Amino acid sequence: MQKLTIQTSPIDGQKPGTSGLRKKTRVFMGPHFLENYVQSIFDGIGGVVDKRLVVGGDGRYFNAQAIQVILRMAAANGAAACIVGQNGILSTPAASHLIRLRGTDGGLILSASHNPGGIDADFGLKYNTPNGGPAPEGVTDRIYAATKIIHEYRILEGADADLGTLGKTRMDQMEVEVVDPVTDYAALMETLFDFNAIRALFASGFRMRFDAMHAVTGPYATAILEGTLGAAKGTVVNGTPSPDFGGGHPDPNPIWAKDLMDTMMGPDAPDFGAASDGDGDRNMIVGRGIYVTPSDSLALLAARATAAPAYRGGLKGVARSMPTSGAVDRVAEKLGIACYETPTGWKFFGNLLDAGRATLCGEESAGTGSDHVREKDGLWAVLLWLNILAQTKTSVADLMAAHWAEFGRNYYSRHDYEDVETDKANALITALRAALPGLPRQAFGPLTVSSADEFAYDDPVDGSRSEGQGIRVNFTSGGRVVFRLSGTGTVGATLRVYLEDVETDPARMHRDAQEALAPIIAAADAIAGIRKYTGRTAPDVIS
Ligand code: G1P
Ligand code: ZN
Repeated sequence: MQKLTIQTSPIDGQKPGTSGLRKKTRVFMGPHFLENYVQSIFDGIGGVVDKRLVVGGDGRYFNAQAIQVILRMAAANGAAACIVGQNGILSTPAASHLIRLRGTDGGLILSASHNPGGIDADFGLKYNTPNGGPAPEGVTDRIYAATKIIHEYRILEGADADLGTLGKTRMDQMEVEVVDPVTDYAALMETLFDFNAIRALFASGFRMRFDAMHAVTGPYATAILEGTLGAAKGTVVNGTPSPDFGGGHPDPNPIWAKDLMDTMMGPDAPDFGAASDGDGDRNMIVGRGIYVTPSDSLALLAARATAAPAYRGGLKGVARSMPTSGAVDRVAEKLGIACYETPTGWKFFGNLLDAGRATLCGEESAGTGSDHVREKDGLWAVLLWLNILAQTKTSVADLMAAHWAEFGRNYYSRHDYEDVETDKANALITALRAALPGLPRQAFGPLTVSSADEFAYDDPVDGSRSEGQGIRVNFTSGGRVVFRLSGTGTVGATLRVYLEDVETDPARMHRDAQEALAPIIAAADAIAGIRKYTGRTAPDVIS
């Protein structure tokens, strides 16, 4: 096998976003695009000579070809070994676990998460550090810097690695170990939860539907739920991963998991419904007749985590991204534990988890996880819910009602305006930023602004500062609106508007969220001029 050094030059637009580099698949497939980025990752982390890496992805279109390129490049760059999921498959949480379990020098995860897959859809690649978590900004900055000065990359010429067969082979000097993607992850789950209690729950006739959305969680959910825990065959639907996710959006929310929502709201609904996204790190939780928002799910899991053996001793602390609702804050207050507010993106939880300051973390975007790995983990959240349901023998609706009665309810919704022209979206944010000092004490309908600022985060562990992390406007009523631009899109800009209001009157806790939030929604438009700047009269996605 011959090692080639290929001359190249920097390609624009290789700046990692909220979670690695996301682009249209065809862009990734373009000349030198993937190779430049992979070499820049290697250069940005100080080379990979004698290093060991985990490599795997969510199975979307171009996953397998890209992995072959990564392996050839790792070998040509002197890596000692790559541990690869069979057929190139690893869910994001399973990859995070494998990095930690094997003590590797990190890993490369191929996914565009919940974005659609296919040659005309999206692709992504990110580097995770040896703690198993997405690279922090310091590292992604170095990778980005490397993309701007790259002039050559190293790659091996020769046959593809056989990723279908378990076991070890060699690619030149480098060892390629193909592992079953599910085994280690499933074993980890068994150490965290009371599997006997969950088995007894299913044996008692408890019915569940898990929608894997044609994505990577299918094999994991089938093995664990139907295999180990005895859920009825057919509990997992859409369980075979496909390169284009069955032509859908593998995004577990009421819009894209509409089938599941319809089933759960229908007359013969099972007791519990759940879904996961393209790469298996997100989750959606639905009870019979009730959708649980991710922010509420985080709060409930924090309040009742001690049901699971792993958390029986209590939580060290909790953390949530800034736009996530404050529901978990009140749980933390009652438990007397710390609650951290971080910028959007799982990478900001890594230090808190490593330092033992937080045990549970969550984001409003259907991400929940704990210190068992350094990524959010869809199936983990589902299993913790099952563990709680097995312990309390209560329905999801009753659990949520009891939770709100105890802690109050944070009405919450996110409105997304997608594919907005980048200039217009930037103009909206610039104007909003300029208006911040004048907002306090201004009235918008029944609401009065109490404070307004742009969120910046000082990491309490390493002292790093991240600025420009979203604009927040608080009202004297306790409600708020947050505005930020997405960092994971591949075309144009997506404006995210996060709306929240607190309700402590039990008589008013069971309203429709959009209705309860109507004054905040109106204020959001008045404050930011959403219609004026975007020309849109309604959001594209309401979750
Ligand atoms: C979105 C979510 C964010 C999540 C990220 C990666 O990022 O909002 O919470 O961490 O995807 O899954 P955004 O597009 O908002 O930058
Ligand atoms: Zn994801």
